Amino acid sequence: MDAIRVRGGTALQGRIPIAGAKNACLALMPATLLTDEPLTLTNAPRLSDIRTMGTLLGSLGCEVAALQEGRVVALSSHDLTSTRADYEIVRKMRASVLVLGPLLAREGHAEVSLPGGCAIGARPVDLHQMGMERLGAELELRDGYLHARAPRGLRGGVVDFPIVSVGATENTLMAATLARGTTVIRNAAREPEIVDLARCLRAMGARIDGEGTAEITVEGVDRLSGATHRVVADRIELGTYMLAPAVTGGTVECLGGSLDLIGAFAEKLHEAGIDIEQTPDGLRVSRNNGRVRGIHVVTAPFPGFPTDLQAQMMALLATAEGTSVLEERIFENRFMHAPELMRMGARIEVHGGTATVTGVERLKGAPVMATDLRASVSLILAALAAEGETVVSRVYHLDRGYERVEEKLRACGAEIERVAA
Ligand code: UD1
Repeated sequence: MDAIRVRGGTALQGRIPIAGAKNACLALMPATLLTDEPLTLTNAPRLSDIRTMGTLLGSLGCEVAALQEGRVVALSSHDLTSTRADYEIVRKMRASVLVLGPLLAREGHAEVSLPGGCAIGARPVDLHQMGMERLGAELELRDGYLHARAPRGLRGGVVDFPIVSVGATENTLMAATLARGTTVIRNAAREPEIVDLARCLRAMGARIDGEGTAEITVEGVDRLSGATHRVVADRIELGTYMLAPAVTGGTVECLGGSLDLIGAFAEKLHEAGIDIEQTPDGLRVSRNNGRVRGIHVVTAPFPGFPTDLQAQMMALLATAEGTSVLEERIFENRFMHAPELMRMGARIEVHGGTATVTGVERLKGAPVMATDLRASVSLILAALAAEGETVVSRVYHLDRGYERVEEKLRACGAEIERVAA
C-alpha cells in the first residue's frame, strides 16, 4: 500500500491546474443510462472513483471508454444488459446509488444495493427513495437491495425534500427528465455539480428550469439524445490547493478556479488573513505576513461553507493565532482527522459536531493515517507546514479524489513523494 512522505517547511510558489469535478462527473456518467445515443464527457478527472463508476456502468451493459489518458470519458448505453447495481461495487462508492433514477426512468425497474455504513456517518438513502416514490415508483427493501419498480412508467410529481441532499436531488432530476408530465423539486440542492448536471441533461434534450435555486422544474420528454459536455472545475480540489500556500506561505495560482464556485470558503480564508485575487487564468492565493488568524466555520449546503473542505481548513487553523471553532452540520462523524492532526502537535477538542482548535506555533512531522478522502489531504496540508518529516499511510483514500497530488505540489516546490509502504 502506498504512502506519501512529506518534508515540511518550504513556502510554495507556482501554478496548479484544477481538474474537472469528481462529484460532478460521478453524477454525469449515470446520465448515459437515460439515452441510447453516445454521451461524451470532457475535462474528466483521472481518479479511481471515476473508474469505479465506469466499472458499475459496464456491469449494466454500457460501453465505457477512457480516451486521452482518461481526460475524456465516452459512454454508450445502447444495449443495457442488467438493472442491478451489485453490493460489491456500491459498497466501495456511495455515488453508485445515482444509477437508481436513470435505470428506473429508462427500464421501469432497478435493483440497487444499499451502500451501508461509511466512515463519515450513517448516510441513509431515504431521500433518494422519497424522490423516486413521488415520481410514482414502488420501492421495497429486500436482501440488502432496494427493489424499485415503475410498472406504468414514471410520472411527474412534487418532491419536497425535508433536508437538502445533493445525491437525492441528482437522482430525482435525472429520473424526472423522462417522467410523464411536470416535476417540481423543492428544497433542491444548489451545488455547482447540480447546475452542471442540469446543463448536460439540457444538452441531451431535457427540459429543466431553476437549477442553482432551491426549486427545480422539469418537463418530462419522451426521449433524450446524446451530447458532449465539459465537466465543471472541481471546487473542492480548488479549495484544497488554495489552502496550500495558506499553510506554507508563498503564492500559488490555481488555474481554472473562480470565486463563484467557492465564495463562502474564499471569504473565510480571507478572514483568516489570506490574500485571494481573481486572475484571467484562475485564482491567485498568497500568504505574505505572519500567522493566520483563528476563525469560526460552520459547514452548510451550497452556497455555504462545504463540508468537503472542513478537514483541510482545520489543518490551516491548527497553527492560527487564537482559537478557532469548526461546526460540522452535514455529517455527524467527520472529525477523524482531528486525532491524527493531534499526533502532529495540534490542539483540538471535539464535542459532538463542534471542534475547537487552539492554534499552536508549529506542527511537527509524525507518522499519520488517512481515514477518508478529505481527511487524507488535510494531513498532507498539515505536513507541508510541519517541521520535519511526515508519512501519511493508507493514501488509497486520496487517490479516490485527487489526481497526481504529489506532482502538483512538487511543481510548486514542495518536498513530497509517494513511497511504497
Ligand atoms: C455529496 C458529495 C459529498 C459531499 C456531500 C455534501 C458526491 C458523490 N458526494 O454527497 O462529497 O460531502 O454531497 O455536500 O457528490 N441524507 C439523508 N438521506 C438521504 C440522503 C442524504 O438523510 O437519502 C443526509 C446525509 O446523511 C447528510 C445530508 O443529507 O446529512 C446531506 O447529504 P447529501 O447531500 O445527500 O450527500 P451526498 O449526495 O451523499
